[in-house]
Amino acid sequence: MATVLVRNGRVVTASESVLADLFVDGEKVALVGQGLSLPADTVIDASGCLVLPGGVDAHTHLDMPAGPLPSADDFEPGTRAAAFGGTTTVVDFATPAPGESLLAALETWRRKAESKAAVDYGFHMALRGLGGATLAEMAHLVRDEGVTSFKLYLAYPGVLQVDDATFFRALLGARECGALTQVHAENGGVIDVLVRRALARGETAPRYHALTRPPETEAEATARAISMATLAGAPLYVVHLSCAAALAHVTAARDRGLPVHAETCPQYLFLSIADYDRPGFDGARYVMSPPLRDTADQEALWRGLAGGDLEVVATDHCPFTLADKARGRHDFSKIPQGAPGIETRMMLLWDGGVRAGRIDAPRFVELTAAAPARLFGLWPRKGTIAVGSDADLVVWDPERETRFSAETLHMRVDYSPYEGRVVHGGPVFVLSRGEVVVDHGEWKGRPGRGQFLKRAPGPARP
Ligand code: URP
Ligand code: ZN
Ligand code: ZN
Repeated sequence: MATVLVRNGRVVTASESVLADLFVDGEKVALVGQGLSLPADTVIDASGCLVLPGGVDAHTHLDMPAGPLPSADDFEPGTRAAAFGGTTTVVDFATPAPGESLLAALETWRRKAESKAAVDYGFHMALRGLGGATLAEMAHLVRDEGVTSFKLYLAYPGVLQVDDATFFRALLGARECGALTQVHAENGGVIDVLVRRALARGETAPRYHALTRPPETEAEATARAISMATLAGAPLYVVHLSCAAALAHVTAARDRGLPVHAETCPQYLFLSIADYDRPGFDGARYVMSPPLRDTADQEALWRGLAGGDLEVVATDHCPFTLADKARGRHDFSKIPQGAPGIETRMMLLWDGGVRAGRIDAPRFVELTAAAPARLFGLWPRKGTIAVGSDADLVVWDPERETRFSAETLHMRVDYSPYEGRVVHGGPVFVLSRGEVVVDHGEWKGRPGRGQFLKRAPGPARP
């Protein structure tokens, strides 16, 4: 087993920031202390740098079929790009085909990942409905397969949307087996009407994607999901929360002591509804759901991150190429929804969060690694630096300058929503289970080295 000594860095976890050395034996952190001087196969001098736990991205869609198209990154470029950005664990959404069993979907996603993933990965399971043996399968997935969270969609009618009765039954079922229910909270029925009316008026440009999914549609669905979770006595996790009105419902629930958790994503912090008005068809690059909001929403989200009501920053990485996006050139509702972000998450949040004085370094670790690890049953193996934890480590130069460009980023997509943006702070070395996978921007990892993570059941029942 190889050994690594990381010297002279400032080790930052969600709870502390201390000058310390780390000794890694094989895949695990073996010692944390000052002045360690053991012989090691590899010695990394982290002077002037922070040493962070590898990031945990709890929301990705790698190799996801979206109608006739797969998302542009599969597990090979996707997890490599994740590592280049300091993320060493991804939790992707296995999504059954219509009529497919959950176990078959899990098998499909395990096959997609196993020879390709370069960092460790787990799966949430999307639920299209609760037919046949679904509730029994959910229990089996939680008990035996380490899939302990289930996402349901209150949007995308005719594709993924479930009705309230199904959502409520899923909450009860998830509660029964100790799983965490995730919700895509937008009112799909209302949005569908707004989309049809817009198209009938000839409003076909990308900006109408945002105008037909106004914040009220997200706030209403968020409130409804929280009410149903409360009635079911079940914990709830709201994915990709984008606006102040939805956050207000999360805050009110948490103020009542309810087990309601929420994530946001960098796109909702750094991009805005104005991006849909970029020249030509460029607004299509920003078509995702929920859509980008306005700057007042951004400020509310930052307050939520600093104050604790938003617990996780994930990416919802779901890229499509410009050629894919062009399918909606004459009809915004045909633009495949989603954008790249798996590589840029930590650099953006460091620059706009820590350097801008909105959050401190331990809170950054909490949002990008510790909280998702805890909520999704990976703690303390992932999300922290402690004796016995996986040696997923990022030597982070707080001043490293990066100019984002599709040309130099590693995601398999021909545009970046952040093209030309300069950020400071980024990874110099990235280790995954003790192995250096990124060294000063050079790739040292290999496809297939990532391991499937069986996750423990998430937050305790209320
Ligand atoms: O537009 C998005 N967010 N695409 C990915 C699927 C989802 O709803 O998370
Ligand atoms: Zn979603
Ligand atoms: Zn998503």
